[in-house]
Amino acid sequence: MDVQGKKALVMGGGSGIGRAVALTLASHGASVAIGDLVAERAEQVAGEIKETGQQSMGGAVDVTRQEQVRELVDQTLEAFGCIDILVNSAGIFPQATVQDMAEEEWDQVIAVNLKGTFLPCKAVLDHMIENQKGRIINISAGHAMRGFPAAAHYCASKAGVNALTKTLALELAPHGIVVNAVAPGPVDTPLPRGGRLYTEEEKQRIGSTLPLGRMGTPEELATTVLFLASDACSWFTGQIVYHNGGDMMLG
Ligand SMILES: NC(=O)c1ccc[n+]([C@@H]2O[C@H](COP(=O)([O-])OP(=O)(O)OC[C@H]3O[C@@H](n4cnc5c(N)ncnc54)[C@H](O)[C@@H]3O)[C@@H](O)[C@H]2O)c1
Repeated sequence: MDVQGKKALVMGGGSGIGRAVALTLASHGASVAIGDLVAERAEQVAGEIKETGQQSMGGAVDVTRQEQVRELVDQTLEAFGCIDILVNSAGIFPQATVQDMAEEEWDQVIAVNLKGTFLPCKAVLDHMIENQKGRIINISAGHAMRGFPAAAHYCASKAGVNALTKTLALELAPHGIVVNAVAPGPVDTPLPRGGRLYTEEEKQRIGSTLPLGRMGTPEELATTVLFLASDACSWFTGQIVYHNGGDMMLG
């Protein structure tokens, strides 16, 4: 799968799946810009990529803020001259039942996970349409299809990401731009435990509920993104790829 010479921007690329995506795209020949709410994380990943000899840059961005997103897109265009691939991996996963959920928490999850996917897509569109090519990959979640207790906001935001992905795919197909989403099952990152890593016991317990017997790794998810970003993904758009160790046959 070839992304040699391509220019990519990965939102939420400072940790977990986004980080693995950034490193994987770079190791397959792409220049990669990384945006993350936590600037040091973005810079750290960009530094790791630069050490391999590949072009990279990392910057702070809050994906809920249109002007910040536009600024990072402009900086990336200035540095790379082009954006061929956009990956939206920024996300949050706080948990509360609807009964206990504050309105502000609902708004925040929808803002980061859904609006924070819409804004970067919107910010690269003029450029991609002008080029008549591009790849957009949004990171959704299996929760969009199945629901999950204490995560109504998260599930709704990811169902929105799926609908946004399909609609954009239809709008952009005439311009040669393909838009897909990857919907992971449980992946070993700090996200589901509020920033701390899973314990070995938790990994065993969650993994044992999956047909393939273990949780996924960020690197495994990144291989699906690599395919969707590559030239091999030429006749494939508007799809939600459930990459989940066989967890419920969603699809
Ligand atoms: N880990 C899982 O089990 C799992 C399962 C399904 C879906 N996902 C999705 O995968 C994506 C990546 O999650 P992850 O597991 O790698 O989590 P993670 O916490 O490791 O990474 C998420 C990154 O997003 C960044 N971020 C948060 N809010 C932001 C904002 N407002 N602006 C910019 N960056 C922001 C964080 O700083 C972090 O670096 C998320 O969209 C998540 O919903 C993860």
